[in-house]
Amino acid sequence: MIRYSANINIMISSARKAAKSILRDFGELEKLQVSVKGQNDFVTVADVKAQDIIYNELLKARPNYGFLMEEGKQKNSLNENEFTWIIDPIDGTLNFMNGVPYFAISIALYNNSKVIAGIVCDPVHNDIYWAEEGVGAYLNDQRLRVANKRNLDNSLIALGIPFLGRGDHKKHIKNQKAVMAKVAGLRRFGAASLDLAYVAAGRVDGFWEYGLSAWDIAAGLILVKEAGGIAVGIDNKEEPLDTGNIVAGNIKVVNELQKILNLP
Ligand code: IPD
Ligand code: CA
Repeated sequence: MIRYSANINIMISSARKAAKSILRDFGELEKLQVSVKGQNDFVTVADVKAQDIIYNELLKARPNYGFLMEEGKQKNSLNENEFTWIIDPIDGTLNFMNGVPYFAISIALYNNSKVIAGIVCDPVHNDIYWAEEGVGAYLNDQRLRVANKRNLDNSLIALGIPFLGRGDHKKHIKNQKAVMAKVAGLRRFGAASLDLAYVAAGRVDGFWEYGLSAWDIAAGLILVKEAGGIAVGIDNKEEPLDTGNIVAGNIKVVNELQKILNLP
C-alpha cells in the first residue's frame, strides 16, 4: 500500500489544479498573450496563471513555508533551515509555446540543505511522477527504478543543449561529440524536470545539462535518488542545486558520463 504523505497530497492536488489551467491554455495557444523574458526564455500568461494557482494552494496549506519560483513573486534564495517550495510552473516553456506536448510542472520541498519531496506533473499524459525521502519514487501508483545498464553501450541518453546567449557552445559541441560516439542515441527533449523523471522511470539511461536553475532540477533530483540512481554535479564536487550542472542515471552510467564530460 503506497503511503501518500500530507505534503505529497498537497503538492499533487496543487499541480493537478494548475495542470487543468495549463491544458486549457495549451489548447488555445493562438489566443495567449506572450511576452519575452531574456533571450529565448518565454514567459506566458499561462506560466504566471499556473504559478499563482500553485502558490495560493501551497500557501494556504503551509503558511510558514518559503517559496523559490521561476516567475518571481516571493523569489528568495534557499535558506537551509527553512522549509521551502521550489516551483517551476511550466518547465519546457518553448515546447509549450510551439505546441510540442513535452512540458511539466515541477514542485519540490526543500529543508535542511536537501530536497525532501518532489513531484513532476506531465499534464498532457495526466501523469504524476513523485518521490519522498525514504519512501521511493513513483509514476502515479507504480514504483520506479532507474535503468540498469552497465555502461554506455546501447544506452539512450537525454541532454540539454545551450542556446542563443546561454552556456558554453564550444564545450557542448566537444562533449556531445565525445558522448555520441559511445551511445545508442541522444535525445534533446526540452524540459529538464521531465528528463530527470524519465531517468527515474528508466526510460532513458542518463541525462546531463549545464547551467540549469534550481526549479528545473529540484524535484528531479529526489525522483532519481529514490529510484535508486544518482543525480550529482558534473565535476562531482559541485552541488547541482547551486551550480545547475547535473548528471543523472545509475552510478555506472553517471561515472562514464562524468569521465567524458570532465575531459580537458
Ligand atoms: C528550460 C528547460 C530546458 C532547459 C533550459 C531550461 P524553461 O526551462 O528545462 O530543457 O534546457 O535550460 O531553462 O525555461 O522552459 O522553464
Ligand atoms: Ca524550467
